[in-house]
Amino acid sequence: MAFLDKHAILERSPTLLLTFSLLVVTVGGIVEIAPLFWLENTIEDVEGVRPYSPLELTGRDIYIREGCYVCHSQMIRPMRDEVERYGHYSLAAESQYDHPFQWGSKRTGPDLARVGGRYSDAWHVDHLMDPQSVVPESIMPKYAFLADTPIEATYVQDLMETHRFVGVPYTDEQIASAQADFRVQADPFGDWDALVERYPGAVVSNFDGQPELTEMDALIAYLQMLGTLVDFSTFTPDASR
Ligand code: HEC
Repeated sequence: MAFLDKHAILERSPTLLLTFSLLVVTVGGIVEIAPLFWLENTIEDVEGVRPYSPLELTGRDIYIREGCYVCHSQMIRPMRDEVERYGHYSLAAESQYDHPFQWGSKRTGPDLARVGGRYSDAWHVDHLMDPQSVVPESIMPKYAFLADTPIEATYVQDLMETHRFVGVPYTDEQIASAQADFRVQADPFGDWDALVERYPGAVVSNFDGQPELTEMDALIAYLQMLGTLVDFSTFTPDASR
């Protein structure tokens, strides 16, 4: 065992021991991380998942600004209690275009990953204005000011370009029509065919019921699309991956 005895040299010299430990950790790290850069894809593409429409993307920014993620997660784990309560477990592809992702780490309120379509727009308005008016025991804060805060489409193109910069595949056409798409999504009497063609499944509605566009419209547009893009009646996971 002369060879193994040499280990004593390492154990007796802190400098040598540290140097070699660092070497071992580095090799381990590279072996784990490097393949991710060469894999064709780390996320399986799933039919139906698309980038956010301009109004949804703006609503998502308001969700982040207001810190909704502090109380709400957006990640349904593949465990029976969660799946029975919230629906199909979340797929990686469903947060593929999220920068940053909104998985969250705390559930003071329920998970919101599939809240889209669960309630009417009017319910969301009442709930955001005064949560206790619809859920008396709720401890969620009031967000009534959102309905009094008008929004403009001034920066929506910049916002989309920033998302494109970090990898969201917005087309030139989507960016060019961003301002029109932004307004028409909250106008059910407008000409929104092109919007729905660009963003299949986008909900068009006067979300807050007021004539002007407000932050409330954008936030509800975002909430109403959460978890609605993948059709789980036809989705079959690819177990070979
Ligand atoms: C202090 C924690 C807290 C914050 C912050 C918070 N919520 Fe909530 N939320 C709750 C609680 C608790 C409930 C459950 C009771 C209820 O429905 O009001 C809830 C419920 C909800 C529901 C209904 C979910 C369901 O499935 O019934 C929605 C939608 C929602 N919140 C959206 C938001 C949005 C959007 C924001 C940010 C503007 C936000 N919440 C901020 C605590 C919070």
